[in-house]
Amino acid sequence: MTSVNLQVNVGGLLMKNPVTVASGTFGYGAEYADYFDVSQLGAVTVKSLSLEPRAGNPPPRIVETPAGMLNAIGLQNVGLDTYLKEKLPYLREQKCVIIANIYGNGPDEYAVLARRLEDAGGADAIEMNLSCPNVHDPQNACGGGLVAQHPDQVARYTEAVKQATRLPVFVKLSPNVTDIVAPARAAEEAGADAVALINTLIGMAIDPETQRPLLSNIVGGLSGPAIRPVAVKMVWDAARALRIPVLGMGGIACTEDAIQFLLAGARAVAVGCASFRRPDAAINIVRGMEAYCRKHKIDDINTLVGAVKV
Ligand SMILES: Cc1cc2nc3c(=O)[nH]c(=O)nc-3n(C[C@H](O)[C@H](O)[C@H](O)COP(=O)(O)O)c2cc1C
Repeated sequence: MTSVNLQVNVGGLLMKNPVTVASGTFGYGAEYADYFDVSQLGAVTVKSLSLEPRAGNPPPRIVETPAGMLNAIGLQNVGLDTYLKEKLPYLREQKCVIIANIYGNGPDEYAVLARRLEDAGGADAIEMNLSCPNVHDPQNACGGGLVAQHPDQVARYTEAVKQATRLPVFVKLSPNVTDIVAPARAAEEAGADAVALINTLIGMAIDPETQRPLLSNIVGGLSGPAIRPVAVKMVWDAARALRIPVLGMGGIACTEDAIQFLLAGARAVAVGCASFRRPDAAINIVRGMEAYCRKHKIDDINTLVGAVKV
């Protein structure tokens, strides 16, 4: 076998391999440049961007858990203008494919973010974060909770962004629901080009000595290997129900983990907090995928997508 095709098409976004990084775990790309050539990833997904800079929640914002971590960063980010001026040039110089993850107060802000990113050449695809458990969006008209927990609101937000940009639009969903298919379908019917899942599972940890929550935000989002089986199952559910592709994530730390997601139906995967432990985790998975394909005599990685034998 001479060559293995690792290229995938995620809702119109061409990626030279199916591996990106999960928003919020890879900064704006340059932070990892000492460890490997970040342009070798299928795409770099940047930390959620808001119109204005955000300081996030006060510390403590991170708690270790068995096989994972709880975070309540609260979408700390430099804001759109600083991203365009100071962070984007590096990513463009390196010729990275960029997925810009966005967070706004209400559908109009999401639309403005998407339009301005497209106009400035600041993204090759937009990922709408509708599922951050650590912020409270007063505009979402959901009576509390996350936008991603309300299929009608998922549709409303998705439509607003689709009208604002021609870039591929990915909708990032929450595992904190009874049935992942309902918001996923709402995104698809509203014109999303792909869904991304999962964001973190809402959790809480208490210090028995002080009898207080360990996070200043009281609750946080659980990520890491602890959530992987939940994520694989949700990818499997969504992929069977949708025509648009699924970008899968949640606890991926090595090649074998990533292959599970492809077999469950993900067209591509994102490596999240595993990069904190091993900064080169994502690029090792790119290399490992090629080796896996050679070992299993697979000449096109796309043939693995949804190929789980049940
Ligand atoms: C410290 C931290 C910050 C995060 N920030 C964001 C964010 O800004 N936007 C977003 O959409 N998801 C954010 N996430 C969620 C991840 O992108 C990902 O969906 C989740 O962590 C599951 O993947 P993992 O288990 O591989 O980390 C964050 C996760 C962590 C651990």
